[in-house]
Amino acid sequence: MSDSTTILESNTKTDTRFPIFGQLDSKEHEQIVLCSEPESGLKAIIAIHNTTLGPALGGARMWPYANEQEAIRDALRLSRGMTYKAAISGLNLGGGKAVIIGDPRKDKSEMLFRAFGRYVDGLGGRYITAEDVGMSVQDMEYIYAETKFVTGIPKALGGSGDPSPVTAYGVYMGAKACAKKVFGSDSLEKKKIAIQGAGNVASYLADYMSKEGAKLYVSDIYEEKAEKVASETGAEVVDPDDIYSLDVDIFSPCALGGVVNDDTIDQFKCAIIAGGANNILDDEAEHGRLLMDHDITYAPDYVINAGGLINVTGELEGYDSERAHKKASRIYDTILDILTFSDENDTPPYAASNILAEERIRNVGRIDSIYTSQSHFSNRKGEIYMRDRN
Ligand SMILES: NC(=O)c1ccc[n+]([C@@H]2O[C@H](COP(=O)([O-])OP(=O)(O)OC[C@H]3O[C@@H](n4cnc5c(N)ncnc54)[C@H](O)[C@@H]3O)[C@@H](O)[C@H]2O)c1
Repeated sequence: MSDSTTILESNTKTDTRFPIFGQLDSKEHEQIVLCSEPESGLKAIIAIHNTTLGPALGGARMWPYANEQEAIRDALRLSRGMTYKAAISGLNLGGGKAVIIGDPRKDKSEMLFRAFGRYVDGLGGRYITAEDVGMSVQDMEYIYAETKFVTGIPKALGGSGDPSPVTAYGVYMGAKACAKKVFGSDSLEKKKIAIQGAGNVASYLADYMSKEGAKLYVSDIYEEKAEKVASETGAEVVDPDDIYSLDVDIFSPCALGGVVNDDTIDQFKCAIIAGGANNILDDEAEHGRLLMDHDITYAPDYVINAGGLINVTGELEGYDSERAHKKASRIYDTILDILTFSDENDTPPYAASNILAEERIRNVGRIDSIYTSQSHFSNRKGEIYMRDRN
C-alpha cells in the first residue's frame, strides 16, 4: 500500500489511484483545499462538505497532527458535522472546517494566520472561518486582517464575542424540551440536574437552571471552578468520578466528549442526557442505541449545542444578542421534533436528527432549482452576507 492510500477510511467505492478523491466521495464532500506558505510554516487544510444551504461555515482548528492523513481525516469529519448542525438548526449555511497543522503553543505567528486568511479570502465566501480548538482571539484578528470571511471576532471589531452565553441558553431550552417529552412538563423546578464541567457553558447553564428552581450538582477537575459555580447557584459540588452515577433527572455533560461510553453507560440513573459538550457519544451508533434501550432520552449534542453557531451566524447579518437568543430558543422545538421522529420511527435521536437534517438539505436543494432573477442576491450567499464589512 502506498503512503497516500492510508488517507482513506474504509471505503469500498475507492479507486486506489485517487485516494483523496475517494475520501471526498465517501462522505460526499465538495472540495478540499491544501494551503501552504513555507516561510511562515503554514500547512492548512480547508474542507468544504456541502454548500446547498449556503456558504460553508466552520471553525479553524490548530492541532499538532501526527501526519497529513490524520489532518485530512479530521477536516473531512468535522466539516461534515457542520453541514448537519447548520441544516438541523434551520440555518442557511453549509458545512466546512479548516485545520492548521501545528502546535498552538509553539508554531503561531502573525504571518501564519495572515497567510491562512488570504487562502480563506481566495475562496470568495465559499468558506467562512471561525475560532476553534487551539485558536485565540488574537489569531482570529490576524485572519480578519486578510479576509472578511471570518466570524466569531471580538465585539470591539463588530463581532459577537464569546458564544458561550447563547450556547448555554440553547442547551437550557433543549433540556426543557427533553423534560417536556419525558415528564410532561418543561419546568425544571425541583428537577435534579448533574452538570459535568464548570467552564463557560456550564456556568451560564447553571445560572438558568438554578433560577428556575432546579437542584444542581456540579463537578470539575478543578475544584475551585466547581466551587465558584456552586457559590453562585447553590449547586452541590461532587467528585468528577461520581457525576455519572448520581440519582438525578438530567445529566448535562458540559466538559469533554466521549462521556457516554462502555464504562459509563450502566452507571447512569438519569432519564435525560442533555448537555453542551461536543461528541458526547463515544460511538454514535452503539451508544445511541444503548441509551434508547436504557430508556434514557438523549438530546443530540450537535443540535442542543448549536447556540454557538447560531450566535456567529447572527454576526453575518449584523449581530444582535437578543435576536441570537431568540433564534437559539428554537432549539426547544427542534429537539421536540427530533424526539417525536425518534419515537415514531424507533430510531435513536442522533439518527433521527441526521435524517431530518438531510431532508432539509434535499428540500432546499429542490426549491433552489426554481429560477428566480434574484437568486444570486439572496442573503444566503457568503459574498452578500459580508458586503458591509470592511
Ligand atoms: N463555548 C461554546 O460556545 C461551545 C459551543 C458548542 C460546544 N461547546 C462544547 O461545550 C463544552 C464546554 O465548552 P466550554 O466553552 O464551556 O469549555 P471550558 O473550557 O470553558 O469548560 C470546560 C470545563 O470542563 C472541565 N473538565 C474537563 N475535564 C473534566 C472532567 N473529566 N470532569 C469534569 N470537568 C472537566 C474543565 O476543567 C473546564 O472547566 C466543550 O465540549 C465544547 O466543545 C462549547
